[in-house]
Amino acid sequence: MFYSKIKAVGAYVPQNTVTNDDLSKIVDTNDEWISSRTGIKRRHFSTGENTSDLAARSAEKILERAGVLPEDVELIIVASVSADYGTPSTACLVQAKIGAVNAVAFDIGAACSGFIFALSTADKFIKSGVYKNALVIGSEVLSKCADFTDRGTCVLFGDGSGGAFLERSEEVGIIAEDLGSDGARGLSLTLGFKEVVSPYCEGTRDEHRFIEMDGRAIFDFATRTVPKTIKKILEKADLTTDDVDFVISHQANARIIEVVSRKIKVPMDKFYLNMDEYANTSSASIPIVLNEMWEKGIIKEGNTLLLAGFGAGLTWGSMLIKF
Ligand code: ACO
Repeated sequence: MFYSKIKAVGAYVPQNTVTNDDLSKIVDTNDEWISSRTGIKRRHFSTGENTSDLAARSAEKILERAGVLPEDVELIIVASVSADYGTPSTACLVQAKIGAVNAVAFDIGAACSGFIFALSTADKFIKSGVYKNALVIGSEVLSKCADFTDRGTCVLFGDGSGGAFLERSEEVGIIAEDLGSDGARGLSLTLGFKEVVSPYCEGTRDEHRFIEMDGRAIFDFATRTVPKTIKKILEKADLTTDDVDFVISHQANARIIEVVSRKIKVPMDKFYLNMDEYANTSSASIPIVLNEMWEKGIIKEGNTLLLAGFGAGLTWGSMLIKF
């Protein structure tokens, strides 16, 4: 029986930071509204680096920490909603940028749950014996997807990337998971709709380039669904919240995490929040937290971590990990 275990984590964000006050110069908003509603104070916005550039920088850091050469990587999965191109995939671009010539590379789209879906996919390849290792990255340049005339959305997002190197192990790493989707509610959060236009179909060239969101519906979805998936996964693993050292949630909004904390009766000091610095980086938010906690020495080998993601699709996922 094989398990997959995280050998190294890493993250990379663009240097350029944009504060709430900076944003208030281009859109009708203010620091008080943004920080009290969301916990966000700053975000990093790219000044030119694209999603694959951020992902490649994370990948290089992760491989260096894992002590693994690019040519020894067998699988690369990138989770993203903000790919450089429709095709090639961001994972293929990363493969080329880091020289992982022997890897199989593909993308996964599950929005803010994407990193957990990608970890889960890599886990199956490793557990089944197909591959011995996998580089799993979440990477986003959401500044190119945000409508900077819509104060209801553009203040919420940031750019960044992060990931993990998973390796076949005889010790348990990924303990359990719970993934879910509800396509019927998908239109409450959308990005990049394109109508069919071709010589066979005139259409109206209806295009929605930017993120559009019913904020209240997403708030409601997240605060109902995340506690449920957490309870389910703990039951599956026959563990309780007392067995969990830290809950690493997707960093959309501090208020969502506070509600989840109350509902599952886990104190806020078991959650790590860094949306004040990065805002919502979608698929990158969970690995950015993982990396920061590891760099600060907060999480250590042997800790039990509960990852929880939720996002567009709608999708959600939780995963229990022995770090
Ligand atoms: N600055 C100032 N005022 C604003 C801003 C802003 N940036 N945005 C909206 N407002 C105003 C609105 O115009 C509205 O004014 P009105 O009452 O005069 O009409 C008022 O603030 C309240 O707006 P709501 O949208 O009702 O604000 P709400 O309290 O619901 O908070 C928020 C909005 C923060 C988006 C909230 O709904 C939320 O947290 N939703 C969760 C969704 C989320 O976090 N999504 C992130 C991406 S999705 C994901 O990661 C899965």
